[in-house]
This record gives sequence, structure tokens and C-alpha cells, in this order.
Amino acid sequence: MQNCSCNHQQMNTSCDSTSIQETADSLVIIRADMALAESVGVDDPFAHLFVTEAGKQMASIAISVDPCYVAFNLVRYRHITERIRDAIPRYHQILFLGAGYDTRSISMPEFRINPVEVFEVDYPEKLTMKQQILIQACVELPSYIRFVPMNLSQSGLLHHLCSMGFRPSDPTLVIMEGLLFFLPSETTKRLINPQTLELAPGSTVIFDYWSNERIDMLNRRVEEKLGKRLFSLFPYPDHPSQFHNIMIDMGYQDIVISDLDILVSEIYPGFRNNHQPDHWFVVQSVYKSNY
Ligand SMILES: C[S@@+](CC[C@H](N)C(=O)[O-])C[C@H]1O[C@@H](n2cnc3c(N)ncnc32)[C@H](O)[C@@H]1O
Repeated sequence: MQNCSCNHQQMNTSCDSTSIQETADSLVIIRADMALAESVGVDDPFAHLFVTEAGKQMASIAISVDPCYVAFNLVRYRHITERIRDAIPRYHQILFLGAGYDTRSISMPEFRINPVEVFEVDYPEKLTMKQQILIQACVELPSYIRFVPMNLSQSGLLHHLCSMGFRPSDPTLVIMEGLLFFLPSETTKRLINPQTLELAPGSTVIFDYWSNERIDMLNRRVEEKLGKRLFSLFPYPDHPSQFHNIMIDMGYQDIVISDLDILVSEIYPGFRNNHQPDHWFVVQSVYKSNY
């Protein structure tokens, strides 16, 4: 799963950080499989650049513990791509938290034809690797992209962003895709709270989350294989109707919580026909203000 060279004396956290960063390598494996990706309507033209043995290994472990891994991740990617495509003309400032090897800000024409500033946040090593791979492949890095290296579990996100030119007063499109379950619950809470980034009214926030039943199930399976748990519980009631109310209290409106089970069944009818108790949701909402 990981080239984790930590010895017994070293902090577990650096090993965990390596595994967590490799989840981006694992995702590009399925997006780089053109036939598979096209069958779901996913187009990620740069995914093949990021294919590594570590990523393949990580993907095969992920698939073995989670039968939904391929279908759900591809459908999430397509769904969020469509949301981004719709939103871009209304936003000049776009923020990808846990950007990993997402290259939509380079490949989607909507980013080039609209005046945008894009901020991509991830661990420093991940962003360095991403830039190196793209440069080696002679992919031009657009000047509107700012890479913001940091550990999101630490404080100072807004400060780091502002030092790179982020303007909280501008409505922002915020995307947190495949991120929150890897973060400590307190960090997830902080990132969903619009006050953390002092989001301007009119900002759109898109993210996905897992039900706690799913988190428990995957943690148990991962622990059997790796001897450790990777995922943190969702810090709010995970039922969409309850979470919807909490988001309203935070000042969000126009909240759409989509169940990936339903989105996947539109492409793969009968993929999960047993009403499984574990759920994976994609949330889209607009911050209006809570005053
Ligand atoms: C599953 S990948 C998703 C990548 C990308 N959003 C996508 O959908 O292709 C999760 C990403 O979140 C990043 N990440 C997880 N925890 C993080 C943290 N504490 N600080 C910064 N980045 C983090 C990982 O490094 C990884 O790139």
C-alpha cells in the first residue's frame, strides 16, 4: 500500500500521511483506465501521467476492501465535474482542498475561457510531485493556478491562502472531493464551517461525506489488512435530512445532498440492489450568511 519507510521510533503520523497522500495516486489509476472512465462519462486526460506502482497497489487494496470503490469514485468525479462546469461562469475564485492529482483546473476549457484564480491545497510533497510530473510531461501550468502546500489539519489555512492572493470577500467555489473522511473530525468541522474561510455570501461549497456506518465498516476492513484505521467519523448527524438542518443553521441555502447509490444506479442499474446501510453523499450548497 505504501512505501512507508518509518521505523518503530518514528511518528505513526508520517506513515499515515504517506498512505493518505497515496489515495490520490489510487484515484488516478481508475480515471486513467480510459475504457472504464469513458463508460461512466469521465474524461481525465492527464490521469495517465500520474500512474505509479504504489498507486496501483493502493487501488487494488481499496477495491478489495470496498466493492463500491471504482463505480462510486468515477460517478462522484463525473457528478462534481458537472457541478463545476455549471458554477465556473459565476465564480472568479475557485478553491480545491485536498486537490491531489485533480487536474480539472488545467484540462477543463471552462477554466481558461473565464477569468479565474484557482487555489489548490494539499500536502507539500503531493503538490511538488504534481507540478514535477506535469512539467516533465510538458504540460503548461496556467498562471491562474496557485499551489498552496499545507497540512489541512493544522491551523492557518486562511492565512496561507491570503498570502497567495486569496480574497475572502470574493464569492468562492470551494471543492473538497474525497477529502473529509481522511481528516480528524474536528478538521472536517472546521472546513465545513463557512466562518473558517470567512466565505463571502454567494460562495458555493461542494464536498462528499460517508455515513458513519460506512466509515466503521471500512475502518474494520482496513484494520484487518493494515493494522490501523484510516478514516475519521463524520462530526455531524450523517442522515441527509438532519445534516441539511445543521447546514441551514450554519448559513447555507440551496442545499442538495445527493446519494451516490442513486447516481450510480442511473449508470449501473442494479449495482447495489439490497438497500445497503452504508452511504456516500455528495453535498452542494450556497453560503448565504447566518445573520
Ligand atoms: C482521495 S485523494 C482526493 C484527491 C482529489 N481531490 C481527487 O478527487 O482526485 C485525497 C487528497 O487529500 C489530501 N489530504 C488528505 N489529508 C490532508 C491534509 N491533512 N492536508 C492536506 N491534504 C490532505 C491527500 O494528500 C490527497 O491528495
